[in-house]
Amino acid sequence: MTDTNKTTNQQWGGRFSEPVDAFVARFTASVEFDQRMAKQDIQGSVAHAKMLTKVGVLTVEERDQIIQGLAEIEQEIARGEFEWSVELEDVHMNIEARLTQKIGVTGKKLHTGRSRNDQVATDIRLYMRDEIDFLLEEVTRLQQGILSLAERNTDTIMPGFTHLQTAQPVTFGHHLMAWYEMAQRDYERLLDCRKRVNILPLGAAALAGTTYPIDREMTAELLGFERPTYNSLDSVSDRDFAIEFTSTASIIMMHMSRWAEEMVMWASAQFNFIFLPDRFCTGSSIMPQKKNPDVPELVRGKTGRVYGHLMSLLTLMKSQCLAYNKDNQEDKEPLFDTVDTLRGSLRSFADMIPAIEARSEHMYEAARRGFSTATDLADYLVRKGVAFRDAHEVVGKAVGFGVQEGRDLSEMTLEELQSFGSMIEADVFDVLTLEGSVAARDHIGGTAPAQVKAAIARAKDELAKRV
Ligand code: ARG
Repeated sequence: MTDTNKTTNQQWGGRFSEPVDAFVARFTASVEFDQRMAKQDIQGSVAHAKMLTKVGVLTVEERDQIIQGLAEIEQEIARGEFEWSVELEDVHMNIEARLTQKIGVTGKKLHTGRSRNDQVATDIRLYMRDEIDFLLEEVTRLQQGILSLAERNTDTIMPGFTHLQTAQPVTFGHHLMAWYEMAQRDYERLLDCRKRVNILPLGAAALAGTTYPIDREMTAELLGFERPTYNSLDSVSDRDFAIEFTSTASIIMMHMSRWAEEMVMWASAQFNFIFLPDRFCTGSSIMPQKKNPDVPELVRGKTGRVYGHLMSLLTLMKSQCLAYNKDNQEDKEPLFDTVDTLRGSLRSFADMIPAIEARSEHMYEAARRGFSTATDLADYLVRKGVAFRDAHEVVGKAVGFGVQEGRDLSEMTLEELQSFGSMIEADVFDVLTLEGSVAARDHIGGTAPAQVKAAIARAKDELAKRV
């Protein structure tokens, strides 16, 4: 990156009587971060040049020179040979200046009928569309990973929790499918966000449109956008689509932070519910016995910075009058970091989750120890004619006795159970087993192994429809 004291900007120097202060040039420049959109900037320029040719503003020779020059620039950038200059402020002017350097005066015609204001709005949308498409694939990969772990655990019994206290037995497969449902909604939210991203602002020019006979439908089609935007002022100014994306990203991170929290707890010696393969963990430099669940911990931690970016973008847009304001240059860093953080977090989860192993004996033991079939006993009493509140009372007493004795309900004798409720009979033991308890919740959305298998089959059908 060159950063000299020569600060007269060749792109707009005409009006100025003195060069821009060297610090101001650096302070206002965005090229250090917006060069990330170089590919999209060139893509947009190629479409713009084709459209200008079709409407008679550029000749076919000029168009071809421009397209050829831009292709070479793309190569220079890909090879790391392109010299970015802070004096040229941003990715747009860097590429345009290089084009003019390469092809001469024709390069100066590319900017006809457009402004950096509609150009940057177009670049961001193209960039975000590419990223969303990649993220949709990563969410799909995560969902596939969840399904593969769930498939191996449709019958694995564990305690289900409320308030982190043992509540009722569930199957691990069912628990996993809860994560799957969250990921499914995340996928749908991303797809929905993509619809509003995929609209073309180019043609709005600085703010009011342009006097050239542009064909915005053509540019939209060339760039794969659904349609052109309908208001030029709105096109160059609003960044609601970026806020929407970051809000979707925040929800995805929020979900992953919940999973992360469980994984951290479950991998601990105290729970010992899951085994996280060593390749997703790190050790301690002082305590030789440690194996730390760094990946879930980091994802949990990174959630905070994505929320921060959402807050930055909301605040960036707040109270901005129409139309474009330089404030908007500040949209990029939060957006880019959101993309990077989300990519990394999804990738690590998609890799790690199918590699998790359930410690099923420990899960089973924990469910057995926690009076998790108490509700089943109450339901049993209701079936014998007891009102639910009275049944609740009877079972509560039985549990109190079990706590004192250090025994689960299924470990009591029939006589002991009958001392709490005389209507209890020998068939009670069918409902007090963990297997009986989960199998009985056999309806759509229930934890019965049969229902988990059905949920997995349904999910696989849905995933198979994705292109
Ligand atoms: N670098 C600017 C941005 O990111 C591009 C648009 C600049 N437009 C202007 N009129 N200064 O928003």
